[in-house]
Amino acid sequence: MSLGVSRPRIEGPGKVTGGVRYAADEPVKNLAFGYIVTSTISRGRVADIDIAAVQGMPGVLGVIDHRTAPRLTPGVGSYFGPDDALQLLQDDTVPHAGRPIALVVAETLEQARAVADALPVSYVEEPHNTLFSEDNPAARPATPLYGPDLAIGDLAAELAASAAVVDEAYSTPEENCAAMEPHSATAWWDGDRLEAIDTNQGPFSIATVLSALFGLDLARIRIRAEHVGGGFGAKGMCGPQLILAVMATTKFGRPVRISLTRQQVFLATGMRPPTVQRMRLGADADGRLRAMQHEATFSLSPLADYVEGFPELTKTLYAATAIHTKITAVPLDTVPPFSMRGPGATPGSFALESAMDELAERLGMDPVRLRLRNEPSVGPVSGLPFSSRNLVACLEEGARRFGWAARDHRPRLRREGRLLVGTGVAATSFSAGAFPSTASITAEVDGTFSVVIGASDIGTGARTALTAVAAEALGVDVDKVRIHIADSTLGPAWSAGGSRGTTSWTWAITEAAAQLRGHTGELPFTATADTAQLLELLATRERHSYSAVFAEATVDPATGEVRVRRLLGMFAVGRVVNPLLARSQVVGGMIGGLSMALHEEAVRDRRTGRPVNADFAGYHIAAHADIPDIEADFVDDHEPGIPLGVKGAGEIGNVGTAAAVANAVWHATGIRQRTLPLRLDRVLE
Ligand code: MOS
Repeated sequence: MSLGVSRPRIEGPGKVTGGVRYAADEPVKNLAFGYIVTSTISRGRVADIDIAAVQGMPGVLGVIDHRTAPRLTPGVGSYFGPDDALQLLQDDTVPHAGRPIALVVAETLEQARAVADALPVSYVEEPHNTLFSEDNPAARPATPLYGPDLAIGDLAAELAASAAVVDEAYSTPEENCAAMEPHSATAWWDGDRLEAIDTNQGPFSIATVLSALFGLDLARIRIRAEHVGGGFGAKGMCGPQLILAVMATTKFGRPVRISLTRQQVFLATGMRPPTVQRMRLGADADGRLRAMQHEATFSLSPLADYVEGFPELTKTLYAATAIHTKITAVPLDTVPPFSMRGPGATPGSFALESAMDELAERLGMDPVRLRLRNEPSVGPVSGLPFSSRNLVACLEEGARRFGWAARDHRPRLRREGRLLVGTGVAATSFSAGAFPSTASITAEVDGTFSVVIGASDIGTGARTALTAVAAEALGVDVDKVRIHIADSTLGPAWSAGGSRGTTSWTWAITEAAAQLRGHTGELPFTATADTAQLLELLATRERHSYSAVFAEATVDPATGEVRVRRLLGMFAVGRVVNPLLARSQVVGGMIGGLSMALHEEAVRDRRTGRPVNADFAGYHIAAHADIPDIEADFVDDHEPGIPLGVKGAGEIGNVGTAAAVANAVWHATGIRQRTLPLRLDRVLE
């Protein structure tokens, strides 16, 4: 038995001793360094870049801008369609502050940066719009990638017949993925083959985009991402570091390394868009939901279409007679948004689960009971059966461990010295599934197995988990398995994203193992599996992971300071491959949710449109001192239809935590917080 056993990360000792290499660490001969010049205006044109003025500076190899950059194929994109964010240095337009407008290449990083700082750039500035608001005249319906706007049942009639109604708006700010490792790439030509080491969440998909952008045969591209210091979504896209490094190595004939500064990570990589979400809930006196309406407005960029499933939970978490959802997009002159830590569901759940708490308040009902009261038997919108649904177990077991039964649901009753104390809960789901992947396993002569899959490990422990998956599927000990991942030449594989890495890769590995088991002939022998067709056999179901998050918070009424004292999450994420790593993943997610609740907020200057807190001094993220005892555990769960019963634990830890904390702050103070983060000034008001 290899599954369900806690094992530390295979690469753990390497990571803590500095033995493993991240993208910017790899020694490469004859290396040159690129430094990106970003626009200081939010909209307009580049009038001039005076390259001649810096030509004589020490170490400079050259400057690439829109006049000299290699041409890229227009219309290339990814998941969300054509993406002009990828079209770097192709013309003189400036679509947002922080847009790369030139690349300096020099012998050293310091020289490149000095040249970039000295480079004279002039602009023709145009009026910009970077202020997010619901009533922006440019607002338009969002793309229906996650399903069209919904209107099931008679909302007005159900609200009118309700004994209690909540009608409130909730706001979440622009946020940044802010991985500890800034985006970095090193690219070089090996004959007619392009090699790159890049920071990303899926080398194969990045190589596919790069191949289309540069018109290069995929077989001539090799991208590796052996170790990645956190992704959180923003490393799921083909980053500016890689596109510009490829341009530079092509132009200057030397390996080129580009690392974004921390500021550039904020300026030029995908952010979580701000939202305003209007929730209307109506229920009978006994808590049965009659009506749910969820209208979300978010910002995007004219450069690329984008959407998140903000009402995902509203469509699946509770039974209600009428369910209406709508998503509206506001194009702004900012860096394009991209997926971040449970996209859609995370901001969406702050709105839904805060509103559910308000509904419980109005009904005078226990918030756990209210949720249990509305457990659906089939998908409330789809009518489909649930593949597996263990939310009730999460709520009940979580409540038991947290000591929820002793809670008085009335607010502002608990005091400890000058502090107000409260507790809150949120229920959560996150969509589950798998995407096509390939894997190969070689049965070696010495009785060991080499597993090859284009998976990536962005710090989650995927490498370790997949070793256990392969051992389980092969019926051998883990020490008989060697795994090789994170290389685009290993074949098509889904990225570490969408909480679908482990399910997608497990499927391919178990399939290859099944083929190998029937082999009795000569060794070595390699079996290769491609799950593209198998996935079509997966029954259409409501397929989600679930959790219940409980929080205890203290509020200092004199300062408005909120501290989270206790967090407990119970999770139903299918079969748990490695409890140690899975717990680490969901605890990390809960810390992200706590950070969202209390700290994270990217602010733009109203006049210039530029980010004003694009660094870790100004953009606050939960630090050790902010993080309380966190308990996270798993209820028994098994996903039918997916090999080994796995379901996905990547993002769900993030999803409910902010609402649970905000609900605890209401319970402590009696004052509802509908805007994140719960800053001191907001709590004081
Ligand atoms: Mo994730 S936000 O699907 O990388």
